[in-house]
Amino acid sequence: MKQQLEEIRESAKSQLSKAASLAELDTLRVKYLGKKGELTAILKQMGKLSAEERPIIGQLANEIRADLEASIAESVEDIKQKLLEQKLKSEKIDVTLPAKKQALGHKHPLSIVLDEVKDIFFGMGFSIASGPEVEWDYYNFEALNIPENHPARDTQDTFYITEKMLLRTQTSPCQIRVMENQKPPIRIIAPGRVYRSDAVDATHSPLFHQIEGLVVDKGITMADLKGNLESFAKRLYGEQTKIRLRPHHFPFTEPSCEIDVSCFRCGGKGCPMCKGEGWIEILGAGMVHPKVLRNCGIDPDVYSGFAFGLGLERLVMFRFNIDDMRLLYENDVRFLNQF
Ligand code: DAH
Repeated sequence: MKQQLEEIRESAKSQLSKAASLAELDTLRVKYLGKKGELTAILKQMGKLSAEERPIIGQLANEIRADLEASIAESVEDIKQKLLEQKLKSEKIDVTLPAKKQALGHKHPLSIVLDEVKDIFFGMGFSIASGPEVEWDYYNFEALNIPENHPARDTQDTFYITEKMLLRTQTSPCQIRVMENQKPPIRIIAPGRVYRSDAVDATHSPLFHQIEGLVVDKGITMADLKGNLESFAKRLYGEQTKIRLRPHHFPFTEPSCEIDVSCFRCGGKGCPMCKGEGWIEILGAGMVHPKVLRNCGIDPDVYSGFAFGLGLERLVMFRFNIDDMRLLYENDVRFLNQF
């Protein structure tokens, strides 16, 4: 029996030394040391031995078990080490290879200029208001003193959802919504998308952006309008910028004007940018019409205000010298990457 045990040790060791994977080692462990393994099988026959032999064989068997367990543990370590080395070799990285470039996006030109305009007005104490793009006829026209059949509606044809609901043609309805919900003093800008059923060309799009402004308080005059908008123009185009107010007509303001800035390219001498005029129109403005204040429950004998509306696309096109508005919506990254 002693010899049998030694033979088991021999053959187990030689097989262990050849094992090449953890799975193979496990199979060998079961084969020799498992419940139905060879060593166990021998030990089961111990009853046949004499009383003197039993402890000797028992001790030998235990020693062999310990020996094989140690060998297996050693082989497991060896194989693990080899696997690790293989892995390290196959996953070697060349740190001198140039890295993959991460393409970083950036703001769209419309957002660049809008953020600048917002910053300027925030600095002057304005906050942001908004309104829905699908708007009631009442807010878009009626409450702004543009009743049905008023000729001003012709220039602002739009897409109707129902007879009384439409895609807003201007951000001016935000004025009404703010005045209905907020008591003066009011000092807001309302940027947003507006819609008109215009055919697409270099200067027209059925969807474009406006920035509305509204200030209502006691004692607001045309001087506030001029001062605020002059400060705005100087912040946007530089201290040397001058503004000029031209009389105009808007149904919701009285008096109304359009505001031009001195050409930021030629400084007013006349150049292709300003078409030789020296001036560039940037916005419409006026003193809020008493009827509009009254429509919103604000007493025009106590309060007055001024309002203005800017076209964002115009500002962007002048700023970046873009001659075709369609470029702003086509999302061609070769174009957008330039800003
Ligand atoms: N809503 C006008 C338009 O789309 C622009 C405008 C003019 C807005 C004068 C105003 C304003 O608030 O006072 O043509």
